[in-house]
Amino acid sequence: MKKIGILFGKERSFPDAFVKRVNEKNVEGIMAEPVHIDKVMQGESSGYAVIIDRISQDIPFYRAFLKNAAISGTAVINNPFWWSADEKFFNNALATKIDVPVPKTVIIPSSTMPPDTSGESFSNLAYPLDWNSIFNYIGFPAYMKPHAGGGWKSVYKVANADDFFAKHGETGELVMMLQEEIVFEQYYRCYCIGGKHVRIMPYEPRNPHHLRYVSDFNPGEELHQLMTDIVIRLCHYLGYDFNTVELAVRDGIPYAIDFGNPAPDAEVTSVGQENFDWVVETAANYAIERALLHEDGKDNLTWGEYVKRSAARMKLY
Ligand SMILES: Nc1ncnc2c1ncn2[C@@H]1O[C@H](COP(=O)(O)OP(=O)(O)O)[C@@H](O)[C@H]1O
Ligand SMILES: [Mg+2]
Repeated sequence: MKKIGILFGKERSFPDAFVKRVNEKNVEGIMAEPVHIDKVMQGESSGYAVIIDRISQDIPFYRAFLKNAAISGTAVINNPFWWSADEKFFNNALATKIDVPVPKTVIIPSSTMPPDTSGESFSNLAYPLDWNSIFNYIGFPAYMKPHAGGGWKSVYKVANADDFFAKHGETGELVMMLQEEIVFEQYYRCYCIGGKHVRIMPYEPRNPHHLRYVSDFNPGEELHQLMTDIVIRLCHYLGYDFNTVELAVRDGIPYAIDFGNPAPDAEVTSVGQENFDWVVETAANYAIERALLHEDGKDNLTWGEYVKRSAARMKLY
């Protein structure tokens, strides 16, 4: 029996529907259940062929459990090693290398020094930074947001240099990115499951939360295809199995805004019933596919093209 587990936090709609849907399919040798943990011993199998992780980004204990499960053969979705390593600024840099349009972005040292550091720890950093060049490059208004974060937390729109310095002063130890504003005519949030199944959801971020998936954006065939290609390319390079990519369309060009989400929002109350049904069905089929491909004790994780190509090059030396 290949077991598929789901690890989750406060959310209920997606995990319950996912387990139910996998089991309804009655695939021989496959069953799904909520992950149950009562001890974690180094190097010991979790007992699951596949685990869908919806919460370890918030619970470091779970992240350690999942890495131990992975080295013992579990296909963890998403790969916990990769998303522990990446962050938004790196992902933007990667996008620039694979021809995916992204807003101009710079990274800024944290306003407050990290614990146990002092001025001496920053000898390599110019003070002040070359703000003129930075502001000329980004322009105003601009967005400022944490390089590792999500859920719209600490996302600021800044009007000018003074506003930037004032708001940056509120961000404590967070490392922030300053980013060109994309004044968009359309916006899409795109699910990508298994690096191949894409659902492009019109999304109006300027609406109140419960109405964000209600909009009359309609991409047309050409833009739809372009966005699908971008979404798949990003997910392949990053190695995310279960991700959302946000695209802001300006002058017909889709700019990737937010595209590394270890556990993208799938609540029925936010994405709406039709999108929810698609996510449940696609995730159930994909988890079953991965469980059927699962090989005992092997590395069953997905690694992105960025890592795979680096590893392949290493073999030449
Ligand atoms: N560069 C940008 N241009 C225009 N709007 C942006 C930009 N960056 C962020 N936003 C707006 O802010 C929202 C939250 O930012 P996002 O990068 O998605 O952060 P989070 O990971 O917290 O969701 C986006 O959905 C979008 O509406
Ligand atoms: Mg977002």
